[in-house]
Amino acid sequence: MRRRLILWQPVAIFGRDTMDGTAQAVVGTMLDHAPYPTPHRISSTHITDNLVHLAWSDGRNSRFHAMWLRDNCPCPICRHPHALERRFLLIDQPEPPHVVAATVENSGDLTVTFAAVNDSAGHVSVFDAGWLRHHCYQDWARAERAHEPKLWGAWLEEELPIIEYQRFTHSDEGVLDWINGLLDYGIVLLTGAPAKAGQIQHIADRVGPIRYTNFGSIFDVISKPNPNASADTPMGLELHHDLPNWRYPPDIQLLFCVANDAAGGGSVYADSFKIAADLRVEEPEVFERLSRQIFEFRFHDENCDHHARAPMIELAPDGRVTRVRFNNWLRAPFDIPENEVEPTYDSLRRFWLRLRDPRYQLRRKLDPGEMIAVANARVMHGRDPFDPSTGHRHMQGCLMDMDWVLSTRRLIERRKRPRLHV
Ligand code: OGA
Ligand code: ZN
Ligand code: ZN
Repeated sequence: MRRRLILWQPVAIFGRDTMDGTAQAVVGTMLDHAPYPTPHRISSTHITDNLVHLAWSDGRNSRFHAMWLRDNCPCPICRHPHALERRFLLIDQPEPPHVVAATVENSGDLTVTFAAVNDSAGHVSVFDAGWLRHHCYQDWARAERAHEPKLWGAWLEEELPIIEYQRFTHSDEGVLDWINGLLDYGIVLLTGAPAKAGQIQHIADRVGPIRYTNFGSIFDVISKPNPNASADTPMGLELHHDLPNWRYPPDIQLLFCVANDAAGGGSVYADSFKIAADLRVEEPEVFERLSRQIFEFRFHDENCDHHARAPMIELAPDGRVTRVRFNNWLRAPFDIPENEVEPTYDSLRRFWLRLRDPRYQLRRKLDPGEMIAVANARVMHGRDPFDPSTGHRHMQGCLMDMDWVLSTRRLIERRKRPRLHV
């Protein structure tokens, strides 16, 4: 269902119409907001056993199941022409759909004819070649689309993705580079912004809405007389993730430097996915325990009490690491089987020892007007202690969710695709 309530609009980049979705013309045969251009043509097609085979002009081959094609028919009967959402119910078909013909049209589109089954009529679907190429699910195509994070250690100091503020503010390319840096390395540095309190809001506006948490929307990190969090003291903060005590911790943390002239207060970062990958090979029993055993995290003050429980290393069904969750000062007492307590502390210590290893650490003292963004499911951040009697240190932070950032990236990429069939 399309929701009409729009809380945040990247007006500066896109304008209202593209966000609303209804005001903009839908292009091509695929009922999509943008076409799927491809330099490759379908050179031939044939059918076997309810599979439609395509040979592409570059020598690649695709196969599509009749069921998959029928389910994805883009015609306005099968898909709502304005909402663009699926109306066709494959589940209501008494028998699996059966393809009787597949033809490549002069336009390059593929026309597929499905047989009438019992009392339901036959159906003709037209698929854009570029869309088919883009959605091909052969191993070669899925491998081309797969994204591999680039794991790093201390060496990243030389190759840290750096985006200049003016470029980020004035070009889609700047925003894309920023997002891609975040996706590839889990960390990206923005330089050259006006070193003003509140500036972080303008930066966030380029990529997505700020997520409200128990620290509010934009929070100040400054040494305070009666702190409710370790961050608001001059203490050092060991490497950590923010808000692991939330069931769905925010995906991204932005930390903007307004002032940083006190002695100390340098920043440190580590790629927990790299540490997890090394543990998996070098200490597999530690990796196994941290990805199975439940940890507890809690933050509580006068106004809130947030508690979450999850394994420290979260895995996707295919075994990929999807999130690491660690913050020692928010760790709450273990609630695990008695015989697991000591080995779990030991596994935690093994992870912790690697965090302390300079090979994994990227160090940098931020200058005013610089901002680091980290992918909070992956990259850990921390800081050295500072001495507030020697100068002023003021950071402003905020948290965001990756869904919005990925959406922004898709919108920018959509805008770059030429409109072939308006
Ligand atoms: C935080 C934090 C780091 C810093 O506020 O969560 O980690 O450099 N701050 O002050
Ligand atoms: Zn249809
Ligand atoms: Zn933090």
